[in-house]
Amino acid sequence: MAILVTGGTGYIGSHTVLELLNAGYDVVALDNLSNSSKKSLQRVNELAGKEAKFYEADIRDEDGLRNIFEKENIDSIIHFAGLKAVGESVEKPLLYYDNNIHGTISLLKVMKEFNVKKFVFSSSATVYGVPAFVPITEECPIGEIPNPYGKTKRMIEVILSDMVKADPEFSLILLRYFNPIGAHESGMIGENPNGIPNNLMPYITQVAVGKRAELGVFGNDYKTHDGTGVRDYIHVVDLALAHVNAIKKLEDFKGTKIYNIGTGNGYSVLDVVKTFEKVNGIKIPYSIKERRPGDIDECYASSKKALDELGWEAKRGLEEMCRDSWNWQKKNPNGFED
Ligand code: NAD
Ligand code: UFG
Repeated sequence: MAILVTGGTGYIGSHTVLELLNAGYDVVALDNLSNSSKKSLQRVNELAGKEAKFYEADIRDEDGLRNIFEKENIDSIIHFAGLKAVGESVEKPLLYYDNNIHGTISLLKVMKEFNVKKFVFSSSATVYGVPAFVPITEECPIGEIPNPYGKTKRMIEVILSDMVKADPEFSLILLRYFNPIGAHESGMIGENPNGIPNNLMPYITQVAVGKRAELGVFGNDYKTHDGTGVRDYIHVVDLALAHVNAIKKLEDFKGTKIYNIGTGNGYSVLDVVKTFEKVNGIKIPYSIKERRPGDIDECYASSKKALDELGWEAKRGLEEMCRDSWNWQKKNPNGFED
């Protein structure tokens, strides 16, 4: 029996495949390689000392998916495949609705044909919009989601939950991630953004490696301890391990469960910059810029439900996140292209 990991060569997918292999699971990864490289999985296999199977396939291609389900004995699915660039989703909403929503529906149709009823979905804290309160619990109301990317996450949550209501045999876990950063401690796998990074940590590491001159800090007049935006950064290995616990949890219940996956700690942009500088001994020049549209003051999780029900909590702190992000970037200045 194997776990199908869609988006398995991507940033979070590759780290999760590694932890699943380490935990003894058989893994089948699929990806259309639109935002990743096959090399990530080669490195995962090297690190694990065993192999995940790989299929180059698009989740919108039902026949391609059927071929995989026919060949492999799939028992459960972790669904990472999707496009995730917020700005691009505003410019190209149809691309996002087609790729993320149509893709997920195709996957669900084929999964149903093959009677697979265990599913973990990569959702996001973005579904809380401007959070009604912090720390954000799973009871926090769903907010106004400011971009098509975030809306696809919420729409997929709704589609999946309706599917579960229609089938009492189904077990679904929605994981709402906060801000994943960091990399495997080996520095062999990590985040490899195309073009100018949108997110804070890859931007900082590209400044550190000399690819960008300085970091723009988007606003210093937020209602936070130093005026810069506060987020709940989570080490990608901790996040990957949350999926291993989620896979085990799927055996224990039928229906839908939702968990926030964060550390419970909020750090500002300047906290991250200062910690990165201290841990790695590198100066990060920065200047204060205008606020970025759609950004919020602060966003951090209550991680209590994940601890109580999944037996999972984040173990790695901000210093390890900064050290491992830099270790990956300096060993792989051009990502997987070297
Ligand atoms: P990523 O881009 O590294 O991984 C996504 C993978 O999906 C890529 O390898 C891409 O090639 C693949 N893919 C995209 N469309 C596909 C399709 N139609 N068919 C097959 N493969 C396809 O991104 P990531 O950071 O690893 O994110 C993984 C998941 O987690 C995504 O669903 C993302 O929305 C979600 N998520 C990410 C974050 C974050 O900050 N990184 C936060 C919350 C949620
Ligand atoms: N920031 C900067 N300069 C940059 C990049 C970011 O100051 O060059 C700031 C932002 O203004 C924000 C913080 O750093 O205050 C974090 O920004 P990110 O872009 O790294 O992350 P976001 O919180 O905006 O969004 C991320 C993912 C979303 C996901 C969300 C979940 O990009 O996909 O986390 O909380 F939905």
